[in-house]
Amino acid sequence: MRVVDLRSDTVTLPTPEMRRAMYEAEVGDDVYREDPTINRLEELAAHMTGKEAGLFVTSGTMGNQVAAMVHTQKSDEIICEAESHIYYYEVGGLACLSGAQPRPIAAKHGILTPELIRGAIRNPSDVHVPRTGLICLENTHNRAGGTVYPMDVLAGIKALAKEYGIPVHMDGARIFNAAVALKKDVREIAQHADTVQLCLSKGLGAPRSGFTAGRTARTY
Ligand SMILES: Cc1ncc(COP(=O)(O)O)c(C=O)c1O
Repeated sequence: MRVVDLRSDTVTLPTPEMRRAMYEAEVGDDVYREDPTINRLEELAAHMTGKEAGLFVTSGTMGNQVAAMVHTQKSDEIICEAESHIYYYEVGGLACLSGAQPRPIAAKHGILTPELIRGAIRNPSDVHVPRTGLICLENTHNRAGGTVYPMDVLAGIKALAKEYGIPVHMDGARIFNAAVALKKDVREIAQHADTVQLCLSKGLGAPRSGFTAGRTARTY
């Protein structure tokens, strides 16, 4: 009897072709940028997301946390959805690693709107409040059951973020699912975020892995 294991999309395993490709992969010293396989993977991630560069990391959690650390300063506030992975499941990493305070906002089906975010952005002229340093969106949203951000909502959030000079990070662990659902290119979705984290371990069979793609320097 063939059993399809639906506990999680992370239980997917590499196919024999993938295992062969891993075995035969050219490797080298990553510090000297001499691992041609990693270099190609990072270039591919950057190309697919339309970003300047990609960074291979060992997990989606690491990709999210690296992005938050890049975007924020200590004591910043990070707007995120109340059930989002970066807030709910990452062991308090935003507080511990970035020294930032999450501002979780409960949103219907996990989809933050420009209106909800506008209401949470701090007044920069009030010395008593933290600086809003980052807006995080999860697309698709895991705990909401795989909900997808509509393109116009993403565009509205990006416009709002630009108005306030706040960067946007997208936890796109399942951005390929969003691309299929929306019938859009990944880069069309990713254009509304400054950095994107994506996983090859969710439904795609890789044992572990994440990518963060974005600009090589912060230039907001
Ligand atoms: C939306 C989302 N972001 C990030 C992650 C973290 O990925 P990893 O388990 O590779 O750290 C997950 C894992 O399930 C996830 O669902």
